Amino acid sequence: MDAPNQLEQLDELMACRLDDTRKALEPCSIVIFGASGDLTARKLIPALYHLFRERQMPVNFRVIGFARREKSDASFREELRAALDQFSRTKPVDEKVWADFSARIHYCLGEFGDAAAYARLEKLLSSFGSEQLRRNLLCYLATSPSQFGEVAENLERAGLVHKEQQKQFWQRIVVEKPFGHDLASAQALNNELTRHAHERQVFRIDHYLGKETVQNILMFRFSNSIFEQLWTRSSVDHVQITVGEKLGVGGRGGYYEEAGAMRDMVQNHLLQVLSLIAMEPPVSLEAESVRDEKVKLLKSIRPIRSADVAKQVVRGQYFAGLVDGQPRNGYRQETKVKTDSNVETYVALKLFIDNWRWSGVPFYLRTGKSLPLSASEVRVQFRPTPNVLFAAQGGGHLDPNSLTLRLQPNEGITLHFNGKVPGTSLQLRPVRMHFSYDAEFGAYTPEAYERLLLEAMAGDATLFIRRDEVETAWSFVDPIRAAWESRALTNREFYSAGTWGPMAAEELLAQGGHVWHDPRPAK
Ligand code: BG6
Repeated sequence: MDAPNQLEQLDELMACRLDDTRKALEPCSIVIFGASGDLTARKLIPALYHLFRERQMPVNFRVIGFARREKSDASFREELRAALDQFSRTKPVDEKVWADFSARIHYCLGEFGDAAAYARLEKLLSSFGSEQLRRNLLCYLATSPSQFGEVAENLERAGLVHKEQQKQFWQRIVVEKPFGHDLASAQALNNELTRHAHERQVFRIDHYLGKETVQNILMFRFSNSIFEQLWTRSSVDHVQITVGEKLGVGGRGGYYEEAGAMRDMVQNHLLQVLSLIAMEPPVSLEAESVRDEKVKLLKSIRPIRSADVAKQVVRGQYFAGLVDGQPRNGYRQETKVKTDSNVETYVALKLFIDNWRWSGVPFYLRTGKSLPLSASEVRVQFRPTPNVLFAAQGGGHLDPNSLTLRLQPNEGITLHFNGKVPGTSLQLRPVRMHFSYDAEFGAYTPEAYERLLLEAMAGDATLFIRRDEVETAWSFVDPIRAAWESRALTNREFYSAGTWGPMAAEELLAQGGHVWHDPRPAK
């Protein structure tokens, strides 16, 4: 065996397994409400198929699609099979695996408000001939949020979901964003859901938490002493979080007109990434300990008062331009978008976290559509060296050290520091130490939904959003949105499709002597 191979094997031996004590998943039925929609075909069934293929599903399980359109088990399976051909992350679909998997898929026709439909569902579940398949239920609400309450109420009434804790069986309700459109509506939704199910039974999905690299933020921070020691105001100058998307709003104009980037991305995905980057170490790896720390962090973000919105937050909207050399319509020309829409397709903001660790350190967050690249990363920039020795001679040009966590694509972590350019002249330049997931572990990156469905079946809520997290996030973004409501966009808030956002976003950082570091394309 050659030396590198030996080393690899040694590294593998040293892998520290954290889930050895985890119990095997109990048999259960997964009931998808609103199963004729896109989410089932694109995400849920491909995820369940892969879990099954990789022998991660419980020994016994059923998947039931519950929806309004007339279908038989056979026609439902056929549709899903066609979708799988299109959306599966591995191709071709394994015929044998599909045959075994699809035999466990059923369809239940029904309106969400019709008690008789839930009676039919109950009958179907009972027909599986196993108490666990009848009583352990993962109810996935792939419906519009306005139907969450109705479905939860009917599930409870039909005796399918029990709010009080049971010894042997469990029922959980999984919901997707948008979870409300402001604090008041999120509270109303939470009240409706928790009238029929206990908070510990409600699993709110933010698919960013299912991403490998987002999960790795906690492991990276709390299993490496060298970085954690630097993770404070005494070493960190500022932090930049960028979630860029090359796509425009495409066919989702109708939804986007109601949402905008603040509701669509900042309230959830960006604040979630921020909370993992900046939270304190939890007292244990239990879901509640981790979520307690995330909420504490969200609560310590200094609110941005209306008077400060213009100073700390930039919104933008793309006009026609070129993305990858191809013409792209402006947002106002997209289908179902008003021709004078003021909805933001871009947000950049500067925030402060008022706690002991981060006092005075600016956090810059930005996200946008029709940007030059689809790339998400967190850049932690460390303080510059004192202005003596090399820094003094370089006239302020010495690059400060930074650490970039690349969340997607080309997942990895890069440390930037300065090195001497070899040769007789005295020259320093930034060099990089790079860890790539792909190079280290191969290209296996399971879809976020695979991990999330697995965790929901296991009853581990760590990767799901708790009620107080959602509500705290809304309390932060609501005043910003309110300040925008009465103001039309000004010229400096527009950006050409295919650029990194409006000029105003550059100016936001320039005030603090900083510049955005744009993610780089893969080499
Ligand atoms: C969704 C938003 O939650 O996240 C979309 O509604 C956005 O507008 C998407 O495109 C981004 O997710 P990802 O996984 O592609 O980064």
